[in-house]
Amino acid sequence: MADALFTVTKENLDSGMRGYPVGYCTTSHVDPVQGLFYAGRSVVELVDWAPEAVVFLLYNGYQGSAKEVQQFAEVIQKRAQCSLDVIRHIRLLPRKGHPMDLFSAAILICGMIDGVGDYREDCLNIIGKIPQIAAEAINYHAGWGECKPSQPELGYIENFVQMLNVPSANLGELTHVFKLFDILHFDHGGGNLSTLVGKAVASGLENMYGSIAAAMCALAGPRHGRANQDCLNFVKQVYEEVGENPTPEQIEELIRKRLERNELIFGFGHAVLRVEDPRATILYKIAQEKYGDHPLVKTALIMRSQVPKILGENPKISNPYPNVDAISGTLLTAAGFPYPEYYTVLFGLSRVVGIAIQIVYERCVARDGKGTPIVRAKYLYKDRLK
Ligand code: MLT
Repeated sequence: MADALFTVTKENLDSGMRGYPVGYCTTSHVDPVQGLFYAGRSVVELVDWAPEAVVFLLYNGYQGSAKEVQQFAEVIQKRAQCSLDVIRHIRLLPRKGHPMDLFSAAILICGMIDGVGDYREDCLNIIGKIPQIAAEAINYHAGWGECKPSQPELGYIENFVQMLNVPSANLGELTHVFKLFDILHFDHGGGNLSTLVGKAVASGLENMYGSIAAAMCALAGPRHGRANQDCLNFVKQVYEEVGENPTPEQIEELIRKRLERNELIFGFGHAVLRVEDPRATILYKIAQEKYGDHPLVKTALIMRSQVPKILGENPKISNPYPNVDAISGTLLTAAGFPYPEYYTVLFGLSRVVGIAIQIVYERCVARDGKGTPIVRAKYLYKDRLK
């Protein structure tokens, strides 16, 4: 008899499969107390690594030597340039709507033109090309003009930043914060919505690009990736209400009033974590050290101390602590990227890496190379008239 890992009860139905084991994840896992690990190493250890070295770790499952990482980076660089036809077609897409729509459509277009129909090859290809796809989608949507030519030899994120025509930013500071953001968002276990959706779509043998585009549509929802945009807007609202140099008491009062009115408190709590998200802890530290005088950083730091205290009074709330979104947008703003509607594209730019590698495992490695079967869940029939 199979080992019982989980017994399905009535409470597990209509619960978003919360905590329900459905497979293996070989890239990363999330511990409720220690947070995110990539190939067994806490992300806390990885923040000073080059993004290419972290991608190597996720892709291969071990830390690469300097030579191995360099060779891997070159493999990715060779795949970095999208065909001109891809760029031309991205620039024919409508600019209306959220930039995530454009980003997902751009990934599909890239697959139509540059896809080779092999999961392993397309995994490396999409990891290589995604900085240009994201930069194109943002520049085009924002009306920032055409991307500068791709120069992948500059480095994975360096190239992304130089392609992006961000108005009047300090590119050095932006590169530093984007690298950190990228490393912390590459992967988050196997069961977060976008990863699960990407793998589910690939289980029907849809190709890599279609599966990743589906994953990005999943990431676009405000309960998932788009929460980073909403969290910054929340910090801004709080700042606008309490003004510069608020006291903790003022913020406490504001949060309590919002709760009385049943309004949402963004950026606190997580489905798996039961402590402050270690990714948030890293970003709070940088925000405090480098941008401690920025008014939104000040506000976010007071919220960090006040909100968990207040939410923690409610016994139904199992995690009142900040998640990564509570501070990521504030830090991006302070570092010179005050454009919240593009924050989910930045999340996607990073998360494509983990999802693509997880798809390769499920399609090409799992079950001795046979791959996992097509996802086919069971729903119980419910008579609506009873
Ligand atoms: C993530 O990084 O994917 C989010 O924290 C969502 C999740 O893990 O469910």
